[in-house]
Formats: sequence, C-alpha cells, structure tokens
Amino acid sequence: MKKLAINGGERIRNKPFTKWPIFGEEEITQVNEVFNSRVWGIGGTKVKEFEDLFAQMHNAKFGIAVVNGTVALEVALKACKIGDGDEVIVPDYTFAATATSVLNVNAIPVFVDIDPDTFSIDPNKISEAITTKTKAIIAVHMGGQPANMDAIMQIAEKANLYVIEDAAQAHFAEWKSKKIGSIGHIASFSFQSSKNITSGEGGIVITNNEELAQRSWSYHNSGRRLGGQWYEHPFLGSNYRMTEFQAAILLAQLKRANQQKEIREHNAQHLTERLLKINGVNVLKRDSRVNVHSYHLYILKYQEEKFPGISRDVFVNALNSEGIPATRGYVPLHKEGFLKEVKEFTIKSLDYAKKNYDNISFPETEKACRNSIWLPQYILLGTIKDIDDVADAFEKIIENIDELKSLN
Ligand SMILES: Cc1ncc(COP(=O)(O)O)c(C=O)c1O
Repeated sequence: MKKLAINGGERIRNKPFTKWPIFGEEEITQVNEVFNSRVWGIGGTKVKEFEDLFAQMHNAKFGIAVVNGTVALEVALKACKIGDGDEVIVPDYTFAATATSVLNVNAIPVFVDIDPDTFSIDPNKISEAITTKTKAIIAVHMGGQPANMDAIMQIAEKANLYVIEDAAQAHFAEWKSKKIGSIGHIASFSFQSSKNITSGEGGIVITNNEELAQRSWSYHNSGRRLGGQWYEHPFLGSNYRMTEFQAAILLAQLKRANQQKEIREHNAQHLTERLLKINGVNVLKRDSRVNVHSYHLYILKYQEEKFPGISRDVFVNALNSEGIPATRGYVPLHKEGFLKEVKEFTIKSLDYAKKNYDNISFPETEKACRNSIWLPQYILLGTIKDIDDVADAFEKIIENIDELKSLN
C-alpha cells in the first residue's frame, strides 16, 4: 500500500491554510467612506493619506501611489531619466517586470547572476557588468529578504549609478535597521493580490530625493507639473494614478501589517528549525544584517543530488497532493521570450538589437530555477500546527521518496 497522497495515500492536510487576502470591517468602512464622498479619483484624501503614511513607515519623505508595481518601476526609471540605449543592471532571478520595465523605457537590461545563499543579485558580479552606458542597478529584495545593500550602494557610488530598489516583495523589511526603500535613491513596491499588503492591484514609488519625487509625480500624472494648471503638460508622462478605493483598502491593510509581520517571523523561525533537521532540502541563508525579513516567500532549495532521477517538479507535485500549496518559482529571466520579441518589433534601432542573450549562462540562477521550492506568505500567518503540517509533508515525502521514482 502506497503512503504518499500523490499515489492515493492519505493527505497530510485537508484543511485550507489561512485565506488570503485578510480583510474585515476596517476595509469595508474605508471603502464605504470613498463611496459616500463621491470623490473616487483625483481630489480625494485617501491616496494622499496612504502615500504619506506608507512613505513615513519606510523612512522616506515622498510617496507617489500608482496602479501597480510594474509601472512603479517604470516611473522610478523615468524619474532617473533613464531611456534610449541606457543600460540597467538587473538580477536574472526575479519577476519579469524588473526587466520589462527597463525595456518599456527603451533601455537595456543587463543581467547578473545571483548569490546562491539569498537568491538576490550577487554584488561580486555587478562590477564586471558595468559599462559606460550603465545608469542604474535594480536591487530586488527576493522573497522579502533585503539584498546586500552595503555592497550595492558602494559599487553604485563608485560608478556614479542610481540604485532603484525593487521592493515589490519586501514591505517593512529592514537591512541593518534601515527601512527597505530608503537606502537606494528610489524604490518601488507592489500591492498586487499575493503581496503582504494588497488592494488587488496597486503600487507605490518612494524616495527621499525631492527632484526624483517631483519627476515621479509628473510622470504618473499625465506629465503635469506639481502646482501647475490642469491642462499644462510640460513633461511626457502617462496616467498611472491610483484610485481612492485602492488607497482606502491599503489604509486598512496597513493597520494589520505590523502584527502580520510578527506572526510571519515567528512561524518562519519555527519552520526553519524543523526544516534544518530534514535531509534533502536546504533553507535560504538569512544574512545577519537582515533584522526584518518580510517573508513574502519562504524559499527552500531541493537537493537534487540526493534524489537521483526525481525532479523538483515531481517533488512539488507530491507536496501539492499532501495539501501544501508549494510552487516552483521563476525561470531564468534572460531566457524569456519577450527579449526576442522586443528585439524584432520594438527596439530595432538600438544596440540592444545586436545583443545576444542566448549564449549567456548564469549557473546560480539556473540552479535556483531548477531547485527552488516556494511557500507563499499566507501559510506563515496560521498556527504552529499549520507549520508543522508543512514540515511533516516534507518529512513524509522524503521518507517515502522511492515512491516518486515512477512518476518522473
Ligand atoms: C520582484 C517584483 N517586481 C515587480 C513586480 C510587479 O508588480 P505588479 O504585479 O504589481 O505589477 C512584482 C510582482 O510580482 C515582483 O515580484
């Protein structure tokens, strides 16, 4: 009789984990206030209140709320005057938007491999990617663990580059007690439905630099000038404004954020303790300078060498069958189809068209894409029993690993 649920055995867990997103009376009251005000867009108070509060909570002077985290990156790039033919350094292991935003301002993403301990950009490999055209580094705080901001800022300062923090996954994280989003020159966040605080879709740009803030504001608001006339468009911008409804939900979500952060941290510690005892998976290292980790994702590494003939994908399927909503995560970004598409149709005139990404190899990113197992943040919002179920499922599958051989 087979034991694993994927082969018809009993599941470790039949109950769902914490339902996400979490909401209550606070969100409903906030949204009702917007309905009743009849000011659902420009001229309302919620967006401004949210921008100020979120920026302040991240130790930044300015916040510009936008419709999602993808355009937040685009606004940040535009604010830094990055455009035609400029190069921007990005990690190869990240969500597509980190690179597509660069292409969408007609600049060129230059990929760099990751640190296998943290899955964020490897600072030791940044310098060799810098050319005379490089204008910025995008530091992605992968899964909510801050990237090595000391090293990144040092390299950027020496080469006179902007640092844009892609903090889509890193709300309220801290590096050496400094809030993420306030260390680089400008930062972007996402409030898309999976994120640690959410309004379904949403994003924000934060900065301590007044000029970058003004340019961001203009770009997200149809190229208007702060303090200018309604029909006065001195800049080429677009309309990326957040609605009052989104901001209302986010104001309520902010009230829950601190407590949720502490629960995730507590449960993540317990999960780490349990997983460290299991032979066959590794947990990502937590840099000692990271004093707050957002745990948007809890990331593990499947040790493929220990299970010859059994792929990570089959292992993830087995976890799903046991009732654990684990996923596989990214593929190397430089292998994505959009890089070819954009070369043929959009950026024909630039050096980019000559760039050949096919022959590049980033061994750590490739390994990470082959071996990573992601657990979503909401799993960490439950009880210790929930966490034990997750660890028990890993144990059970590894104890019965031979059952997976025929499934590859
Ligand atoms: C690292 C990273 N950057 C950017 C984004 C884009 O955010 P959005 O989905 O809000 O456009 C995401 C969202 O998944 C992300 O994870």
